[in-house]
Amino acid sequence: MRARRFTRSDRVATGNTSEVFRWTSTTVVKVLRPGIPQECAAQEADVARWAHAAGLPAPAVDGIVEVDGRPGIVFERIDGRPMWDLMQATPSELTHMVESLVGLQASLHAAAPVGALPSLVVRVRFKIEAVTALPAEDLAESLMLLDQLPIGSALCHGDMHPANILMSSRGMVVVDWFDAATGHPTADLARSSLLMRPPMSSRAVSAFLGGATRAFLTRLHDTYLDTLIARGLHDAAPFATWEAILAVARLAEPVAPGDLSNVWAAYKAGPAATAATSRTSSGR
Ligand SMILES: Nc1ncnc2c1ncn2[C@@H]1O[C@H](COP(=O)(O)OP(=O)(O)OP(=O)(O)O)[C@@H](O)[C@H]1O
Ligand SMILES: [Mg+2]
Repeated sequence: MRARRFTRSDRVATGNTSEVFRWTSTTVVKVLRPGIPQECAAQEADVARWAHAAGLPAPAVDGIVEVDGRPGIVFERIDGRPMWDLMQATPSELTHMVESLVGLQASLHAAAPVGALPSLVVRVRFKIEAVTALPAEDLAESLMLLDQLPIGSALCHGDMHPANILMSSRGMVVVDWFDAATGHPTADLARSSLLMRPPMSSRAVSAFLGGATRAFLTRLHDTYLDTLIARGLHDAAPFATWEAILAVARLAEPVAPGDLSNVWAAYKAGPAATAATSRTSSGR
């Protein structure tokens, strides 16, 4: 492992679980934040390396290094801006960009067999078992629902949202492959819907889609659902069930629990409440 320190000017971006710095003229290093288990670096590097080797739109991986005592993954530097920045800079292009995102996601779902990846269902089960913010009966109910859903064998990125897509000269490149797994496409789409949901409270901000108003996030989420429906990818009943289960599982991640608990509570309250929360804007 090589050791090196960084200054602020080296910083490329700040993620939820990491900081990304310039490493060489052609690479960046993704340094995990304190508290994130160190083995996550090797796991993410393995999956990203596999995705790149499989010809998927992922950055090449150059190895693991140590930065200030923390593990960092060295990636090929992708020269491009996040789709999320471009959406905010050019809101008139939002629909077009969401269509590109959904097209990219569907193409990953149709990619070649991905036997080397972990199982999405196993990961979700593991996360739900680690949740402490809900009563045991809710966890048992969500696990029972999970058992009733088809497992699937598609490549699921697991964290597909516009801040994880870089718009480069070689097209869209996807970063942040830590959560990639084999599973059902609807699970992956429902996870994206969950990630793009605007915060329920007007004072809260999205954990990773920062810098936008709640109204903008609402438009993004609605456009995402509209695009899935238009492409015949929104299978309403399993979609709602997956999103509710994934909200419970996400309670095991380092994020605020409020909205996630509400997604689960709305699902349990029945179809009417789920329909009311599936569209996040009024009058649609
Ligand atoms: N290979 C790369 N080349 C250029 N920029 C990159 C690269 N990898 C990541 N970035 C930038 O760093 C940001 C954060 O990276 P990444 O999404 O992998 O971190 P994270 O902490 O896991 O994010 P999250 O907030 O989704 O948890 C990206 O949105 C992107 O702007
Ligand atoms: Mg990210």
